[in-house]
Amino acid sequence: MQRQKIIAANWKMNGNLALVDTMTSELNSITFSNNVKVVICPSFVYLSALSVKIANENIKLGAQNFSEHASGAFTGEISADMLNEISASYVIIGHSERRSVFGETDIEIAKKVKVALANNLIPILCIGESEAERVEERTNAVLSKQLQPVIDEIGIESFKDVVIAYEPVWAIGTGKTASPEMAQETHQFIRQFLAKSNAVIAEGVSLLYGGSVNAANSEELFAQADIDGGLIGGASLKVDEFKIICSAAQGS
Ligand code: PGA
Repeated sequence: MQRQKIIAANWKMNGNLALVDTMTSELNSITFSNNVKVVICPSFVYLSALSVKIANENIKLGAQNFSEHASGAFTGEISADMLNEISASYVIIGHSERRSVFGETDIEIAKKVKVALANNLIPILCIGESEAERVEERTNAVLSKQLQPVIDEIGIESFKDVVIAYEPVWAIGTGKTASPEMAQETHQFIRQFLAKSNAVIAEGVSLLYGGSVNAANSEELFAQADIDGGLIGGASLKVDEFKIICSAAQGS
């Protein structure tokens, strides 16, 4: 089956209006294959500017986080309605930095996935193990524990509208990428875990790899059977490198 290929750019707390300009002017003119989507997730401040400048139907706008609340006294938060209004269609949920730095729990993350879906936002649900968990051979147990509350909250059928990003914490921003074989093995585990609840749904879910993806390693990673694209941090801030990563998804 032809799964949707997705290259998502997670700018984190980086970037500026100049990057919005150069990134959109370079990417807008690319002809992407039908099954490839490029999702740019800048800081909230730049969402509107990007929204106006994106002029390519394969390029979508995404947020890095949002509130599970609809509105009200939540200083510093952003709602799903606000994201809808500026035409964002994706939202990253449960990034490891949100989990470790901001204390988001599996349960809160599951609720956010539900609220995103209820508001027609496609969640990019991030999961991944720490270095210690990998060394102690607890990777699969950790991933199961992160996924199960989401399955319980939204039901497996709703995963037809969910994107999952597997990001080993030890590979994020470190330059230490999982080998293509290791990444594939873990992606296969994630798909098999979902398949225990519904094999057809599991087969259709786009599973992205994240963690030090760059121009040199993207092609081999994306060529793996269960890797359907990537969530790109550092390399998504460099226009030329990001274009190479996008073209690696086209060919995979
Ligand atoms: P990185 O970040 O590509 O810089 O490792 C990935 C991410 O955190 O989503």
